[in-house]
Amino acid sequence: MKKLALGAATVLALGTFAVITNQAEAATQTLQSLAAANGRYFGSATDNPELSDTAYTAILGGGEFGQTTPGNAMKWDSTEPAQNSFSYAKGDAVVSFAQAHDMKVRGHTLLWHNQLPGWVAQLPAAQVQAAMENHITNVATHFKGKVFAWDVVNEPFNDDGTFRTTSPFYAAMGSDYIADAFRTARAADPDAKLYINDYNTDGQGAKADAMYNLVKTLKAQGVPIDGVGFQAHLAIQYGFPTNMQANLQRFADLGVDVAITELDVRMVLPRDSAKDATQATYYTNVVKACVAVTRCVGITIWDYTDKYSWIPGVFSGQGAALPWDDSLARKPTAYNAIATALGGVAESPSPTKSTSPPPTGACSATYRIVGSWPGGFQGEVTVTGKSAWTATWTFANGQTISQLWGGTVTQSGSSVTVAPASWNSTPPATFGFLASWNNSTNAIPAVTCS
Ligand code: XIL
Repeated sequence: MKKLALGAATVLALGTFAVITNQAEAATQTLQSLAAANGRYFGSATDNPELSDTAYTAILGGGEFGQTTPGNAMKWDSTEPAQNSFSYAKGDAVVSFAQAHDMKVRGHTLLWHNQLPGWVAQLPAAQVQAAMENHITNVATHFKGKVFAWDVVNEPFNDDGTFRTTSPFYAAMGSDYIADAFRTARAADPDAKLYINDYNTDGQGAKADAMYNLVKTLKAQGVPIDGVGFQAHLAIQYGFPTNMQANLQRFADLGVDVAITELDVRMVLPRDSAKDATQATYYTNVVKACVAVTRCVGITIWDYTDKYSWIPGVFSGQGAALPWDDSLARKPTAYNAIATALGGVAESPSPTKSTSPPPTGACSATYRIVGSWPGGFQGEVTVTGKSAWTATWTFANGQTISQLWGGTVTQSGSSVTVAPASWNSTPPATFGFLASWNNSTNAIPAVTCS
């Protein structure tokens, strides 16, 4: 939130507010600021390899997200690769990034049948409970005070609503492992909200019923469970989950928080405008369902960009699941669906809300500051009306571009010229960049294109 205030103040101090009216509104609106206005967080998962991608981290930490979840860094194979030998460097790196960018962290996950090191599966059944409790105690103690919530148990059910009996924890302890895991986590970190988390429980059906009955039983037994996570790994070819809002509400009525924990909306590739439009309705419906349920505390997308989505690696031939594409450009469809469902404005590609397209051969460009922080900012320019364009502008305050994606930049003193990347010459074309600024004035330049 501190960075948002800085960005807004910067625009206002320039006196350019009236000139760039709807762009200024858009520039100060982020998914997190909109979610916060609804008393919720909006987050993105992340993973250690992409934290060295500065164009990626500029957006991750640039104000759009108030929460993050490590995609892999806190899983068992990462934190206890050999028995009783703990390694926290990856998890600590995600926590440090989050703390430096005003993002809170969901811990994921203490207990899952996947991404377990081989030694766990080889344990004699009689040793599983002690190993499980030792793991939970150590990991939850290490991250105490650094995570506000834990997915204590992940994916306990098969799709038909039966318990996943192949899990080594179930195999050794039966379903009692779940209550034991929650009690162990509570003892290690009494302040963290403790969640159970699963997929295909987003809509009503056998699997959601099984989860509902489990949570009801755990509550009745006094097991310390605070929340239910709904992963919401959705796919447009399978239809939207049945009665999602009502489903979230019935869990909330059991006296637990609910959260959308791993949202993405995949499609069969290639992407096209019809699939994008369908995907946008899914994003709208999920966000509206959460906003409508008082105890739905927040929404996390499973990374924000297709560049780092897990989908293509797991679901062959599918992808394009996230609101930013693989060149880190926002998709107006999915992004605006989320923003408007949170009560924000759709971002217009043009600073004037003209309804007529530019004349053939004419070219217009809009420039906006996506986010800024001490010494740096991220900008974005959208060119409409002309293919094979060239965009030029003059910085007024010594700004210097360090990195640009979606095009090729030449900067000579204050003069900037950008030509499109080969795949990005057809309007509307958007490119983004990182630049330095003097921390006092960051004027919006007039961009001309030809
Ligand atoms: C995924 C990660 O995103 C991948 O990088 C990894 O290879 C496999 O796991 N449900 C979950 C997440 O709870 O932990 C999974 O994350 C996605 C499905």
